Amino acid sequence: MFNKTMVSAVLGLAFFSHNAQAAEPIIIKFSHVVAPNTPKGQAAERFKQLAEKMTAGRVKVQVYPNSQLYKDKEELEALQLGAVQMLAPSLAKFGPVGVKEFEIFDMPYLFQDKVALRKVTDGPIGQKLLAKLDKTGIKGLAYWDNGFKIMTANKPIIQPDDMRGLKLRIQSSKVLEAQMRAFNALPQNMAFSEVYQALQTGVVDGTENTPSNIYTQKVHEVQTNMTLSNHGYVGYAVVVNKKFWDGLPADIRASLERALKETTVYNNTIAQKDNDDAIAAMKATGKVAFHTPTPQERQAWMAKLKPVEKDMASRVGAGLIQEINQATRRK
Ligand code: LMR
Repeated sequence: MFNKTMVSAVLGLAFFSHNAQAAEPIIIKFSHVVAPNTPKGQAAERFKQLAEKMTAGRVKVQVYPNSQLYKDKEELEALQLGAVQMLAPSLAKFGPVGVKEFEIFDMPYLFQDKVALRKVTDGPIGQKLLAKLDKTGIKGLAYWDNGFKIMTANKPIIQPDDMRGLKLRIQSSKVLEAQMRAFNALPQNMAFSEVYQALQTGVVDGTENTPSNIYTQKVHEVQTNMTLSNHGYVGYAVVVNKKFWDGLPADIRASLERALKETTVYNNTIAQKDNDDAIAAMKATGKVAFHTPTPQERQAWMAKLKPVEKDMASRVGAGLIQEINQATRRK
């Protein structure tokens, strides 16, 4: 039988362990697939610093770069299961969790520049798209930039026909698949962490990505030609596990929102420079031949890719394309 002393000892222990628990920091595991010295890699580290500072250590952020924990598709599943709390997948990767509208960002030549892009991401369209994640157990918090894509191969890529028959790695997006098919190329959906080896062994002949992603994956070691085509965009949705996020104490959530806001400004400030520096660094190796399309060549690429928009309208929503065109004043 319990006597009075034993009961108060047990209660005391329970109280102590409850308090010890309350003092434990909240852990945010932030997983991503790129190198630490990319825009997203640096932004993840910046978020960690700001979040820990602004919550006075009540939150600890653990950043796992380079697909250390999960590859492209797995990381979204892990987020839904709560095995990690935060990610920033490329907008091209949300189709497998059932939000295919984000693939609109993969539409070739959709944005003339970052000003046009911001009109979408910073406005009601951007918010509406993030809200579509709610039903998947994921909460969308912000957009982070990377930049515009270039094309790589082991031969000069000048005209759209130069890609005919090439096996080209893509992210999981159906819009990107349609884009490569429009070139009469063979799209190969593959995780980011597998790209270098696939290029090295000839499993694929080429790829598209931002210069910072290409450089930090050492693609320039296994590709001889790059075309500065800027034919599409790579950006990210910063996302959290919704249940985790909604369950946070309100003051913590407010501090994290502040940290994220500051990080977004930081990310979007460094992204362009990172990409410019990556091109300069690859040029300096002297191993890659770079081609900048002439206005006529650009027109030829645009004409070749024009049907993609119509083909993919039913997937991403014809209304959404129209809304974006209106917001960006694209004809
Ligand atoms: C890719 O998979 O090609 C990239 O979008 C990876 C990333 O997160 O930038």
